[in-house]
Parts: sequence; C-alpha cells; structure tokens
Amino acid sequence: MQGTEEAVLQKEYIEKLRALYKGKPHAYFIETLGCQMNAKDSEKFAGILQEIGFTEAASERDADFILYNTCTVRENANQRIYGRLGQLKNLKAGKPGLRIALCGCMMQEPDEVDTVRRKYPFVDIVFGTHNIFKLAELMYRRETGDGMVIDVWEGTDEIVEDLPAVRKYPFKSGVNIMYGCNNFCSYCIVPYVRGRERSRLPEDILSEIRMLSEDGVKEVMLLGQNVNSYGKTLEVPVSFSELLRRVAEVPGIERVRFMTSHPKDLSDELIRTIAETPRVCHHFHLPLQSGSTRILERMNRRYTREKYLEITEKLREAVPDISLTTDIIVGFPGETEEDFLDTLDMVERVRFDSAFTFIYSKRTGTPAASMPDQVPEDVVKDRFDRLLARVQAIGQEMSGRDVGKVLPVLPEEINRQDSSMLTGRLDNNTVVHFPGDPKLIGSIVPVLLTESRGFYYIGRQA
Ligand code: 5AD
Ligand code: SF4
Repeated sequence: MQGTEEAVLQKEYIEKLRALYKGKPHAYFIETLGCQMNAKDSEKFAGILQEIGFTEAASERDADFILYNTCTVRENANQRIYGRLGQLKNLKAGKPGLRIALCGCMMQEPDEVDTVRRKYPFVDIVFGTHNIFKLAELMYRRETGDGMVIDVWEGTDEIVEDLPAVRKYPFKSGVNIMYGCNNFCSYCIVPYVRGRERSRLPEDILSEIRMLSEDGVKEVMLLGQNVNSYGKTLEVPVSFSELLRRVAEVPGIERVRFMTSHPKDLSDELIRTIAETPRVCHHFHLPLQSGSTRILERMNRRYTREKYLEITEKLREAVPDISLTTDIIVGFPGETEEDFLDTLDMVERVRFDSAFTFIYSKRTGTPAASMPDQVPEDVVKDRFDRLLARVQAIGQEMSGRDVGKVLPVLPEEINRQDSSMLTGRLDNNTVVHFPGDPKLIGSIVPVLLTESRGFYYIGRQA
C-alpha cells in the first residue's frame, strides 16, 4: 500500500484532536465546488472530521469548522468563494472559536493565497490539493499555534489513501485511480494545480473496491483527469482496459463507470473492453472542447475533428446503445465564426446525449491567456446561446430513444419534488423518476420507461 507510514502519523493527529475537542460540541460544514475529484476529496475530509468526533452541521451558521474545497478551472468559481468568505467574516466575529479552512485547486495559486492572507485574515487554515491527507495535522497546528496556518505544496509523488472516508451514498462510490494531468491543454489550469500524473497501484485500487463492495457498494466510478493514460508510469505498466476488466470482476460490483477520458489516448482495446465487459456502463464522457481542428491545435489537444469522429463512430459501432456526453468551450482565443460552425457541425454529427458547454475563461499562467485575438464578450455570448440551443434539442431527441423499453435502474434517492417517487439512473447514466418504495434505493430494479421529458424519463416498475 502506498503512503502507509504517513497514514499512521495522521491517525495520531486525529487522536490528539479527539482529546482536544473532548466534551465540546463540534460540527463541520463542507462546501465543495468543482469536479468529481473535489467531491471525492471532500468525502475524505468528512471521514477525517468524523473520526475526530465532529458531526455534520446543517448550515454554516451551526458549524464550528467550515471548509471550502475550491475550484479554479474558471474565473467565476473563484469569485463565488470570495463572495462567501466575505459573509463568513461576521459569523466569525460573533463566534471566535469558529475555524475556517480553505483548500483545493484555487489555493494552489500563489496570487489567491496572497489575497486570502491580505483580505481575509480571519481564515484559519489554507492548504492545497497535494496534502489533503494532512487535514488533521493542520487543524492540530492551528489549535496549538497562533494565526493562519498555510501549507501549500508545489507538487508531490506521494499517494496517501489509507485514511477514513465518508460516502455520500452507501451504494455507490468514486474511486481515485490516478492524480494529476500531464496534458497541458493550453486553456487549462489543472496541470498546474493538480500536478503531474500519478497512478495508484492496481492492487491498492482493487483492494479498496473489494472493501467497498463488502460494505454494500454496487457502483464505482473510477476517477482521474485522464483515465485513458492510467498505469503508464507504474513500474509494471498496466493499461486502463486491463484495470477496468479487473474491477468489473470484483464480486458484488454491478456497475463500473469512469471519468474523464481524453480522445488522444483512447485505444481500440478500451472500446473492445467496454463492448465485452458486461458490468462496464454504456456511457462515455469524451470532452470534445472544439470541433475545429485549427482551434484544437491551438488548444494543444492533439487530435483532429476527423479523429474524434472516427472514435465516436467506432464506439457506436461496438456499443450501439452507448450514450455519449462531452464538454465544449466556446470563445477560445482566435475562434472565428467558421471555427464555431465546425463545432456546431460536430454536435450535429455526433449527436451527444448531453454536453456541458462553457464560455472560455482566461486563466492566468496558461498559454492561452497570453494568446492574441481574445474573442469579444458579445460574440462569445451569441455563440454560446446558439450552441446551447442545438445541444439541448439534440440531447432531448437522443435521451428519449428508449421510451417503451424495460431497463435496469439503480434508484439513488427519494425524488426531491414528489416524495412518492424515486430518482435513479440507467446504465447509460440517464435519469429516471418512478413511483417506488424508498427501500428500493441502492438495488437495481427493472423499470418500464413510459415517457421521455427531455433529459429524463418517467417510468414504472416492471
Ligand atoms: N475556460 C472554460 N472552460 C474550461 N474548462 C477547462 N478550462 C477551462 C477554461 N479556461 C472546461 C473544459 C473541461 C471542463 C472540466 O472544464 O471543457 O473539460
Ligand atoms: Fe485540463 Fe486538458 Fe488535463 Fe483535462 S486533459 S485536466 S482539460 S489539461
């Protein structure tokens, strides 16, 4: 197991904090922004806090420890954090024992840490993405020293896993298979804030999944910024396909998902594996980013529109019922109307089930930030609206294709609007609402899809 010694050390800090907090009421509140990786990290924070003896608070007002797990992939995520921090100032003034911590991708940026230090001196702890396993140690340092504790690492080779974690859902879980990214897409801050690619050992991943399965987990989502290059840097290299096959064999695991893939590394072997391995879900999230080869080149994506089309055609041929989803950026520097029309054309050709569409956001320090020809805001907005309209219309047509069929659904929760209904997902990730007993939550049941309402189905148990 990687990082065992460090885990032992951290467990000692957890014990010290338990003693320190003994007899005092203490509750935590975690706010998570950003992607699945951050969501997974937050489950680890919750695990450590609960091990110390904290309970979860319903709101920030009821909390004694507030943690913001930040994202910095687009500028508006940073602004949201500063807005919320401003509000915490008063809260802390009325409750001096309150501890406020910031972590995650935004804290890997020295300028942001500087801003926090200058404008938000009431913050207690600041750390980044590389030392999340040190939460207890940092909390202990804050309680035994004075003033803000800042511990941001520039990078790391360390992988520390063997610490407690709390799962949001008892029956499904994300599992980190790798950390970091080596791709340096020219618009993206992730390689700078999450560091170089590091894969976990397959034995460690499989033993975590076996433990999860024994604990009632039926669905796992294998997480990494670029899962297709999993295992390349290990002493004994293992391909992502091989890992996927082995994960799908773990007894009790009924669904295996993964996120995110990069088109440049997608192998025929992986396509075969998805087609041949029954428990691997028929859903592929494959970020396109742009449909123009010229822009893809400037983005440093290392594939052409033709290559992307070829992959998606192969995927559909091998797995006809697969659902394809994507990420698209509009307004990348230098994007002309013609480039944008190429993106629209790709949307028409591939026919995605759904797409996350983003307005390009300039990230200081990335190559794209200093490119000439930044596209004017009104032009970007107009393109964004046109793209969204097409993406939604096609998504609606695509997601309705299974009306009348009986398909397996994993119910995840009681419907938020109507408590007589359950909300779950098909193998291909589409949402289904159907009347059902909450006892069904967490077990796969056959559902007749009676009606499609755009992006989701209404159904009834078959
Ligand atoms: N501006 C807009 N969108 C971005 N993404 C990453 N960086 C940026 C940026 N600077 C999008 C990409 C990626 C998704 C997670 O976020 O589409 O796939
Ligand atoms: Fe960012 Fe590109 Fe890495 Fe994805 S593959 S995290 S977009 S650099």
